[in-house]
Amino acid sequence: MSVNAFIASHKDRFLNELLDLLRIPSVSADPKFKEDVFRAAEFVKASLEKAGVDHAEICPTAGYPIVYGEKVIDPSAPTVLVYGHYDVQPADPYELWDSPPFEPVIKQTEEHPDGAIYARGSADDKGQFYMHVKAFEAMLASGKLACNVKFMIEGEEEVGSENLDLFVQQNKEKLQADVVLISDTSMLSMDTPSVTVGLRGLAYMQVEVTGPNRDLHSGTYGGAVANPINTLCKMIASLHDEENRITIPGFYDRVETYTAAYREQLNKAPFDENDYKRKLAIEEVWGEKGYTTIERVGIRPTLDVNGIWGGYTGEGAKTVLPSKAYAKISMRLVPNQDHKEIARLFEEHLKAIAPASVKVKVVPHHGGQAAVVPTDSVGYHAAEAAIQEAFGKQAIPTREGGSIPITSLFQQALGLDPILMGFGLDTDAIHSPNEHYGVKNYFMGIETIALFFQHFARMHPKG
Ligand code: BES
Ligand code: MN
Ligand code: MN
Repeated sequence: MSVNAFIASHKDRFLNELLDLLRIPSVSADPKFKEDVFRAAEFVKASLEKAGVDHAEICPTAGYPIVYGEKVIDPSAPTVLVYGHYDVQPADPYELWDSPPFEPVIKQTEEHPDGAIYARGSADDKGQFYMHVKAFEAMLASGKLACNVKFMIEGEEEVGSENLDLFVQQNKEKLQADVVLISDTSMLSMDTPSVTVGLRGLAYMQVEVTGPNRDLHSGTYGGAVANPINTLCKMIASLHDEENRITIPGFYDRVETYTAAYREQLNKAPFDENDYKRKLAIEEVWGEKGYTTIERVGIRPTLDVNGIWGGYTGEGAKTVLPSKAYAKISMRLVPNQDHKEIARLFEEHLKAIAPASVKVKVVPHHGGQAAVVPTDSVGYHAAEAAIQEAFGKQAIPTREGGSIPITSLFQQALGLDPILMGFGLDTDAIHSPNEHYGVKNYFMGIETIALFFQHFARMHPKG
């Protein structure tokens, strides 16, 4: 039986197993879901065992565990290390979901005429890493597995993978491989498949501005005492100039610049700005002067407020001049920018621009470095060949705006360039209400992953 025939004859089960995984609310950010996160790890371990690994284990960390599993067909054959994450983002706000986030349903959409699975984690990343489990099962069952496989599926990606660094450093031997394969990104569209060759880094900060020592009557004191929310807003507004460049001194010092030829090639990727605007219901795009939308997302750094609060936000009106104001601010970084250095520059700048009427506290959250993946490796060529065969099209290399901090960790600690072969679409609403993942994307992904293994074994000197 061929791999594809095996996939075709087990379609319903392959889909239903994913739906079961999606029913586990493994939200790593919220301690309320702690047991569910552990339950998801057990589910992943059991699914690896059922798929046929020699050995699977749940590796405890100081936080949520890493699920590891491996199948060695021949110690001299090439080894593929698969990375993914079983944790998901919080589903809030629940009221904006058309169906409950942990009760998956399949619905048709403009982008997914064959149906899409609506559930938190469907595209990021349960639906994507589970394709690897199923591709592995199909290859093994049909006698076509041509590489050794190692699975490393973590449970803290959405909260910054804080414990992964140590795990990788302590398990270099165990994780030894010839390539890392990750499906946790998107492609341009089903008609224009792509492979991600760059991801941005991240520095995530929390700012607390304190004015008076208690909330004040906004009539009695208003106009005479600095309002920390007004002050914070003014400070935030000053972080971009008229050209939408970030004003933090030193912020751009290490930013990599690209040749006109490279930028031209980057902009050749199909992109319809009108369609982009229509799908987001915006009249105009926004960004740094002198760069296209593709460049703004792919090769330029950013600063965005992710949340801002303080004062009274309940029903009706309460007249109050608040004591405190808060904001969560993320900066997306590009190659050569160091997230720790950027965090420091941010803190220094915020303290420098704060008026004497308030106090400012800056607390860094998680961070990660940007990554660039070379396009001349055996792994990249295997991905191109797999996509060519499955989609009948040449894969376009793209640089995405999101971050997967583990990518640069793999490069540094294991000396391996990860192949970012994801099958989501930007419109899948990851991290957002109504996240979904195409049923067709799921099955095309399984097929393409199996082809990757075949081509990788064929192209690799060990194969
Ligand atoms: N899968 C995403 C990253 C991603 C999304 C890459 C879309 C490319 C396209 C990942 O799960 C994620 O959300 N990462 C976080 C960073 C992390 C440190 C919390 C992100 O990008 O915000
Ligand atoms: Mn992800
Ligand atoms: Mn995510």
